[in-house]
Amino acid sequence: MILLTGGAGYIGAVAVRELLDKGFAVRVLDKFLYGDYPLADVRNRVDVVEGDILNWDEAWLDGVEAVVHLAGLSNDPTAEFNPDANKRLNTDATQAIAEACKSKGVKRFIFASSCSVYDRGMMAEDALQNEDSPLEPRAAYATSKRAAEEILLDMADDNFQPVILRQGTVYGWSPRMRYDLVVNTFVKCAFETGELTVHCGGEMWRPMVDVTDVAKCYLACLQAPMEQVGGQVFNLSHKNYRILELAHWVSKALEGIVDVKINVEYGSQTARDYRVSGDKITQATGFRTRRNVDESAREIAQKVQQGINKDFHNPRYYNIKWLEQLVEMQDHLKRLGSIF
Ligand SMILES: NC(=O)c1ccc[n+]([C@@H]2O[C@H](COP(=O)([O-])OP(=O)(O)OC[C@H]3O[C@@H](n4cnc5c(N)ncnc54)[C@H](O)[C@@H]3O)[C@@H](O)[C@H]2O)c1
Repeated sequence: MILLTGGAGYIGAVAVRELLDKGFAVRVLDKFLYGDYPLADVRNRVDVVEGDILNWDEAWLDGVEAVVHLAGLSNDPTAEFNPDANKRLNTDATQAIAEACKSKGVKRFIFASSCSVYDRGMMAEDALQNEDSPLEPRAAYATSKRAAEEILLDMADDNFQPVILRQGTVYGWSPRMRYDLVVNTFVKCAFETGELTVHCGGEMWRPMVDVTDVAKCYLACLQAPMEQVGGQVFNLSHKNYRILELAHWVSKALEGIVDVKINVEYGSQTARDYRVSGDKITQATGFRTRRNVDESAREIAQKVQQGINKDFHNPRYYNIKWLEQLVEMQDHLKRLGSIF
């Protein structure tokens, strides 16, 4: 059985289906911050556990042979919103789960890290980063991911073999849709207003990867001989794109569906900017990403045309909006006691 923490999230919901399709038994552990609807049609095929990674229960590892750890805060704005919670979730809880795995003999542990650990800002040298490049993460999110990586690598030995995947920014359709990721945002904007706005001249580089490719990479890391992947860090990127280029690809993908105008703004120098090499994972496992931005953008557009995820104003599609609302409601409900 494979345990997926955060299995009801944007990537998790796709990964669960991918694992089921390949015949794996799957347990999902999730707090369902965004709801449990992403698992609705697979619920009877998955062992679903509602729980919080901050309160780890060792029974969650019963019968588990490998863990894919995705749960936590998954972008910059939510990490900045509550840096202390971000550290507890992304670093401390990762350590606690890894220790639980190690003491229970669960050797294979795939950790969803982020290429944002390479970010040093727009003024940094424009070099291709590989897994050995020096790191100086600055933002709360990247810092918490890097701290977790270091802890996991220190713990690695014959009984515990973490696989660290530094994922690029993900795009594509998921049963738990996010419109706060750049390509998905562009598709949403195209439908909403017909206009895509890129900031800082759209010059920033970003490694990008499709959500189904990410799920397939988890499979590759679960199936690879341990000596090929254990105790190692891998970038996971299909291709590096400048943001302006992404806008053009989305515009092209939506030709014949919506007319798109691209607005370029200049100014702020604070955007994330980095390029990475994704070669190492292919060399180690033979795994290759397949899905281009235009293909994935078209798939989202087709869903929207079918009326799926068309309610663009729904705050659940935007992690920071949703968490801000939950916290506001939580405070409000504390005062109200009950509503009626
Ligand atoms: N989406 C991306 O572009 C991207 C890029 C790089 C890395 N990552 C990493 O991949 C992982 C998955 O990202 P995603 O886009 O699917 O995020 P997501 O926000 O859609 O999903 C996160 C899931 O974790 C769950 N969760 C949050 N706190 C929890 C807790 N305390 N206990 C149990 N469950 C909890 C949420 O309910 C949610 O289902 C994250 O670790 C993220 O940092 C994502």
